Amino acid sequence: MAIKIGLVGTGTVGCGFINILQKHHDDFVRHYGLDLEIVRVCSHSDTRAKDLGLGDRFTPDFHDIINDPEIDIVVELIGGTTDARDLIVGALSAGKHVVTANKALMASDGKEIMDLADQMHRNIAFEASVGGGIPIIEPMKHMLISNEIEQVKGIVNGTTNYMLTRMDQNDLTYEQALHEAQDEGFAEADPTADVDGLDAAAKIAILSSIAFNSRVTMGQVYAEGIRRISPIDLATARDMGYCVKLLAIGNRTPKGIDVRVHPTMLPLEHPLASVNGVDNAIYVVGDYVGQTMFFGEGAGSGPAASSVMGDVMETARLVKNNVQPLVGCTCTDSLPVVPMEDLLMRYYIRFVVMDTPGVLAAMAEVFAKHKVSVRSVIQRGHEASGSVDMVYVTHTAREKDVRDVLTDIQNLDDVLAPKCPPTVIRVDQ
Ligand code: HSE
Repeated sequence: MAIKIGLVGTGTVGCGFINILQKHHDDFVRHYGLDLEIVRVCSHSDTRAKDLGLGDRFTPDFHDIINDPEIDIVVELIGGTTDARDLIVGALSAGKHVVTANKALMASDGKEIMDLADQMHRNIAFEASVGGGIPIIEPMKHMLISNEIEQVKGIVNGTTNYMLTRMDQNDLTYEQALHEAQDEGFAEADPTADVDGLDAAAKIAILSSIAFNSRVTMGQVYAEGIRRISPIDLATARDMGYCVKLLAIGNRTPKGIDVRVHPTMLPLEHPLASVNGVDNAIYVVGDYVGQTMFFGEGAGSGPAASSVMGDVMETARLVKNNVQPLVGCTCTDSLPVVPMEDLLMRYYIRFVVMDTPGVLAAMAEVFAKHKVSVRSVIQRGHEASGSVDMVYVTHTAREKDVRDVLTDIQNLDDVLAPKCPPTVIRVDQ
């Protein structure tokens, strides 16, 4: 008997999903005994459904899918947090299983949605919400459960990784790299969610919730993007044996969960350092497994649809065997999120200053006043205007103290802020 699917959304991922099923339907029947059938397709327009031969199953109203008693699995690929939320809540309430790629919704309303799924004994699967085609949520929920996860950190935004790679390897400015990413179709016309780290923040909220068995919402994640990074930072980092990546980081600490997104200096020998371009990778450390890394294409039609289809197949097995989901919400602890101000790290800080006598001494005084110990100072460049870049690398310092240093130094004469605000990059290890 066919397992009936209602698909909502015929954008990039929705079309990829239809393509996979058209190509592999018979293989799924032969190998796994799963006969999947898309019985309804919902979208704003019927163009794509018609192009893909599903025009006769088109509806513009997702309620037709929620209310269709023969549908077993609803696939939500519209994104956003309003209609998508109504659809998912409506579908679960109507007793349907749900597969979604919606990171923003799962990172904000994950608890409510998973509680509802548990209550209804239905599956909610969201592998494609993090890392596109990379299997990471299911491996963490299944094969890694014998571990206490100590750390999950990754490059989970392809747009910014592409931009940083181009800035590093081809000396492009931030603006040039952004335009190129937009021309290539990686970055949106409004790139805010990517370049300000918000997309990565949603993803690390989801990963941390699973890794640490404790709910982390997107609003709890400190997020800082890459707008202030320039090629000089990448070159200076490289001279020191580091690359710069926008990392999404979750750590289990004695005080709670340390979760954040920011540009990070990563030693060149770290496994994540060689992940370039639009690729994503997630590095997970468990107490028994040690280090693992999951690598692949983090976005795009094929990779994201591959994850969605994987979730649909797993869910179809439940339907076929008439069994309830084996794994629901695993957030059984309520660990606090550690305040960012308490973070202890080494910091790279670049100020643009006028090359005048006394400026270095004045800056040194501020570091000393806030008890931030400087490990090295490098002066780079010399503009015709008389300005230079002063790069400080600190010993391990407290975030709060470093913020005080930044505020005080920006108020000094001859420090070119706010026109050239300082660049801060936290140093990993
Ligand atoms: N905008 C994301 C990225 C893809 O650039 O990786 C969707 O999650």
